[in-house]
Amino acid sequence: MSLFTEIDHIAIAVRDLDAAVDWYQRVFGAEVVHREHVEPDGVEEALISVAESYIQLLTPRRDDSPVARFLAKRGEGLHHVAYRVDDCAAALGEAVAAGATPIDRAPRPGSRGTTVAFLHPAGAFGALIELVQV
Ligand code: CO
Repeated sequence: MSLFTEIDHIAIAVRDLDAAVDWYQRVFGAEVVHREHVEPDGVEEALISVAESYIQLLTPRRDDSPVARFLAKRGEGLHHVAYRVDDCAAALGEAVAAGATPIDRAPRPGSRGTTVAFLHPAGAFGALIELVQV
């Protein structure tokens, strides 16, 4: 049985969060439903709702943020895909036992009061994966 219950969000790294939000609003009439400075990750996010999922526009707030490093190396664009799971710790354990490489050894707090864990893109066909327990 799949560990995934929904796509929680698709994250896009951007240099100017306000410009990106404005573009999504103008072009798609998109609605920002949440905005948060996620201090531990050194990022600010704006969530745009798409049915039961979100587009997460993400910009660094510190130079040592992983998103700052991503922008410097790869430029703006798709950053990660986040899948919703019922139990983040159990899903992380199962994924790692099945061969996925963890970035987080244990689940940690995400934005919106979620619990999250990341899996490394190496060995995951190049995509950074986040597991999200709402
Ligand atoms: Co995310």
